Amino acid sequence: MKVADKGIVNQVLADPGTVKSVSSGKGAATDLPSESRSPWIDTRPAPGFAPLDGELTVDVAIVGGGITGLTAAILLSEAGKTVALVEARKIAQGESGLTTAHLTAYPDGGMRKLIDHFGKDKARIAWEAGANAIDRIEQLIVKRGIICDFQRLPAFLYTESATGSAALEDEYAACQEAGVPTRLVREGLPGPQPMLAALRFDGQAQMHPREYLLPLARALVRNGGHVFEDTRALQVVEDQSPRVVTEHGVIHARDVIVATNVPTNNVVALQTKIAHYRTYAIGARITGPSPQGLFWDDLDPYHYVRTHRIGGADLLIVGGEDHRTGQEHDTSERYRALLAWASERFPIGEVEYRWSGQIIVPVDGLPYIGHNSFSEHVWEATGYAGNGMTFGTVAGHVLSELVQGGPNPWGDLFEATRITPVASAVEYIKENASTFYHLVKDRLAIDPTGIHKLPRGEGGIFNVRMRRIAAYRDDKGELHTLSPVCTHMKCIVDFNKAEKTWDCPCHGSRYDVDGQVLNGPATQALEKIEVPVTPEVRPTL
Ligand SMILES: Cc1cc2nc3c(=O)[nH]c(=O)nc-3n(C[C@H](O)[C@H](O)[C@H](O)COP(=O)(O)OP(=O)(O)OC[C@H]3O[C@@H](n4cnc5c(N)ncnc54)[C@H](O)[C@@H]3O)c2cc1C
Ligand code: FES
Repeated sequence: MKVADKGIVNQVLADPGTVKSVSSGKGAATDLPSESRSPWIDTRPAPGFAPLDGELTVDVAIVGGGITGLTAAILLSEAGKTVALVEARKIAQGESGLTTAHLTAYPDGGMRKLIDHFGKDKARIAWEAGANAIDRIEQLIVKRGIICDFQRLPAFLYTESATGSAALEDEYAACQEAGVPTRLVREGLPGPQPMLAALRFDGQAQMHPREYLLPLARALVRNGGHVFEDTRALQVVEDQSPRVVTEHGVIHARDVIVATNVPTNNVVALQTKIAHYRTYAIGARITGPSPQGLFWDDLDPYHYVRTHRIGGADLLIVGGEDHRTGQEHDTSERYRALLAWASERFPIGEVEYRWSGQIIVPVDGLPYIGHNSFSEHVWEATGYAGNGMTFGTVAGHVLSELVQGGPNPWGDLFEATRITPVASAVEYIKENASTFYHLVKDRLAIDPTGIHKLPRGEGGIFNVRMRRIAAYRDDKGELHTLSPVCTHMKCIVDFNKAEKTWDCPCHGSRYDVDGQVLNGPATQALEKIEVPVTPEVRPTL
């Protein structure tokens, strides 16, 4: 948006899902795809595991088949534990299938923030945990012969501005205080995008996330473990005999790991310490020199860039334009802004992919990993921000150690029950005030135009016969009508135009147009409401 505001691009809205952008920068005129699709899911089809059917008893039950759940599962099964993993939809198609998979030890919020919140020794430990996670991913790849385009390469945190250059010097000083190996570079920076200065971190990495994760699922099954897809956990019972109650049966276990990206079992405690953001990505063919490395700029929200060879040529993958989930009505605008930013800096041809996903931001800058309730045997992990591939790996290792009664390799740094009140109070208050604001304000938000004027492919909240309705009109003109009351804690959902979903502004739950849960913490679908087809609701457009 910042770029568009400067008048760099001239945009023409073609239809609700398809956006034409005419760039005056390096890139050619190009369209955004009408469908949201990630290259990882597109190029690596799912193997397919059957749903749970009945009851099962194992040592460890894991809820969620992303990088956290699959890492913990393979490590526990290698340690001789019987493991059953349940996945609500398909494995590695949640955020781990939507990621851009920069593998970096450099934390999203920067080292200065970590030092302010935790002190320099703990900030260094956080860096070491991330670096160790990249090493462990590489070791697992070598051990299991996984082919996933894993590649070590340098990463650059860069600025285009003189003000940013001064701020980078402070971040450089913070890295030195914490003992993080980096260099402040002003000359000979790799292009093609303009950079005034950068912090260079060597030995970072990238990979194809699904080509890494799907072999782990198959190895788990070969080790005698179980993977159940299309099996949503409805409840984790945390009494003397822990169990996971699902749509299709129950798994009894000594320990349960909740690896659902956001906790779905403890609805309050952790939710107040995290905030849910949407982030956007595009994958475009590059028509000139490719950037060599991983890149993030210093804007807020920042942009992240890398390439991946797909179909015999480099795909430029650019992400950014984040916002609080459910708090941006015109989400298509975020894609347009991202494309504008990218085409001004890179020689872009066809945009083959566009997609978005969820980022869970912790108030103090580090993830929460461990116990989150009174139960000794229920474990969870959340709050990775934009470092979920490395922190998800850290979490998988930490949780597998803890379940086996071993020490936490990183001490109490990531403890889920921690509170860092002084340093993170501002973020805590800001994020929770936003939740409270939406809990109250959105109850009044009604579209005054009338449901009959709702165009195809659009959604809105309407009053129909004294009842508030979340209505979506599909491409055939059919209405899909639901209660707009989020099943988590009763905030009012908002329509996400670019993804055609209902997103909750309070704690980030998301639902499809038929009300099925896409992202937690909600575990229950939105209530379906039948609306009689009367002139009041019949389309007039
Ligand atoms: C666009 C984008 C770019 C990103 N870029 C990077 C990056 O460059 N580097 C980086 O390190 N991180 C990045 N991230 C973050 C990272 O991808 C995520 O933090 C990470 O994948 C989270 O892994 P996870 O295992 O916690 O969650 P997921 O991969 O989402 O797995 C959780 C699984 O739990 C399942 N589930 C949820 N509820 C239930 C239930 N009730 N029952 C059963 N199953 C359930 C979900 O369906 C899902 O499959 C990015 C994220 C996005 C969206
Ligand atoms: S996600 Fe908490 S109220 Fe909707």
